[in-house]
Amino acid sequence: MDDEWATPTFAFHGLDYIPSGYSGILAPYIETGPGTMRAAATLMRLDLIPTAITPPDPLSVVCDLGCGDGDFLIGLLAHVNRITHTTQATAVRGVGVDYNAELIKTATLNALSAGERVRWLTYDFNEDRDDLAGQLARQHVTHVFVYLVPKQLALRTVRGILTQFCEGGGVVCCHKFQPDYLTATRRDTLMDLVVYEMAAGLPTRGADRGPGFEGLRKSEILASQSDRGIVK
Ligand SMILES: C[S@@+](CC[C@H](N)C(=O)[O-])C[C@H]1O[C@@H](n2cnc3c(N)ncnc32)[C@H](O)[C@@H]1O
Repeated sequence: MDDEWATPTFAFHGLDYIPSGYSGILAPYIETGPGTMRAAATLMRLDLIPTAITPPDPLSVVCDLGCGDGDFLIGLLAHVNRITHTTQATAVRGVGVDYNAELIKTATLNALSAGERVRWLTYDFNEDRDDLAGQLARQHVTHVFVYLVPKQLALRTVRGILTQFCEGGGVVCCHKFQPDYLTATRRDTLMDLVVYEMAAGLPTRGADRGPGFEGLRKSEILASQSDRGIVK
């Protein structure tokens, strides 16, 4: 591991979103606002109103990688479910991941009172000791939202998780900082959002993801959708 990461304090200096004077050991929780949340929903194409031609996609499960107290994720789910008129059976669900147990505790309570279905994981994806990409696949996650600093995006673990997810047909949306190992598909420059969505079977730019990252193939995702009666 990079020496800088071995020190208890994060190498946050010089990053514009870090509050001046911040000296905590855990990364600070900086919330993404509602305007950016709505723009992210649009860029990820989660807010398409179903029609006869585009029926509702009951598959969508959105993960916020580094979710803090869940405000962004809960707001996103509420927004999408409201405007796409989902039913309880077709509602977009969430998976929130953060290593700060206090924030996850708050997120759990907030989701309950908001009535949104979210699975919360207290988990350190920098260490990634328990195959997060595999866990996301088992939760049928289709979209991952990421607001992390460049050093985290560059970590082998985070790179492996995002690359494997993207190669499996998932949609990644990054706010403010972008990974240089994924190829951008579309962007919202005003809101500083970039989406990465791969055509099935194409390799990502970051070929070296280390052992254990075989990637979930599009066919496996389709098979899993078919098992659940989603793909005709
Ligand atoms: C910039 S905040 C983004 C919060 C939320 N996604 C949003 O957009 O409002 C980054 C979050 O990532 C979490 N985080 C940072 N490093 C992490 C790690 N190694 N494992 C899990 N969570 C982490 C922090 O606790 C913080 O809540």
